[in-house]
Amino acid sequence: MDIIQKAFLRRALSVEEIEAVLSTDRYDEALFKAADLTRQRYVKRDVHLKGLLEFSNVCLRTCHYCGLRRENDGLKRYSLSPDEIVGLAKKAATYGYRTIVLQSGENREYSVGDFCKVIENIRALNLSVTLSIGEKSENEYRAYKEAGANRYLLRIETTDKPLYKALHPSMSYERRVKCLKILKKLGYETGSGSLVGLPHQTAASIAEDILFFQENDFDMIGIGPFIPCENTPLSAAQGGSFDMALKVMALVRVLMPTINIPATTAMETLRPNGRILALQNGANVVMPVITEGEYRALYRLYPGKVCVGDTPSHCRGCISGKIRSINRDISVTNGDSERFIIRKEIRRAV
Ligand code: 5AD
Repeated sequence: MDIIQKAFLRRALSVEEIEAVLSTDRYDEALFKAADLTRQRYVKRDVHLKGLLEFSNVCLRTCHYCGLRRENDGLKRYSLSPDEIVGLAKKAATYGYRTIVLQSGENREYSVGDFCKVIENIRALNLSVTLSIGEKSENEYRAYKEAGANRYLLRIETTDKPLYKALHPSMSYERRVKCLKILKKLGYETGSGSLVGLPHQTAASIAEDILFFQENDFDMIGIGPFIPCENTPLSAAQGGSFDMALKVMALVRVLMPTINIPATTAMETLRPNGRILALQNGANVVMPVITEGEYRALYRLYPGKVCVGDTPSHCRGCISGKIRSINRDISVTNGDSERFIIRKEIRRAV
């Protein structure tokens, strides 16, 4: 059987088969069709809009690819106060958002107690809360879950262990996997994902990333191209391509039909209308930035980030118009993935 047909019918491929798909453009047309058909059938026309609040760019880590890394002293740092964070969430609710994604560098700027209050206050606005704040202890993850956090995003970035080690000084691959398992155990709707186009990353290692996502049965997967950033050890690297990131994302959709897949900002950075192209090839989520003012530009994971001069309300309107123009709907639900809903149903039934 043809590889794409097999992927579509069995939702399973070997590393070698994924590698084959990634290594030529021969399968592209069939792959993209299969991804869009899978999206249509399993997660329908709804696009979930989630407000991304980049509340602090302070980071204690030194990841080689990331502009927020501690050793980048060319970046002005900020941390919004708990009141400012809740205030921006409140405003986002008035634009129609039903989920706030709280993202920051990995830092110790907020006490666990204070951050729990932030979560409680945002939940009290009838908003779902997704956290994207890195590796924490099990107790800290539990505290945030008990405070009402619904979801957690923690990309594995790459499952290639030597590459992981080279890019993440003083971090551990095993510890990151452990964090993901703890998040799932605690009942978070759990998202992961990876970067595409890292130096020395092979098609085989990307194939392993995809199998890792399937094995761990994540609810959400974010795929983005690596974009070289100034003042980082990888500033002169080549970077990933839009096309390869799109292919990886499409493969993830075909192999994981019911999960949520964001059309990432990094894709839009490499290609005008990149997020719309992503939505037409498997994605069903967009996370417009709801951070305001100069903070939008200061949350500089990589250069060329789009919409840094816009307001949150403008972004909401702009992306909504584009989504409707491709005959898709803006979801009115709180944005849980089909995967998570099914998982809960089964747990209740058996
Ligand atoms: N290019 C693209 N994505 C990046 N990220 C960090 N640095 C870069 C970069 N230079 C991504 C990481 C992280 C997410 C918040 O941003 O995958 O998980």
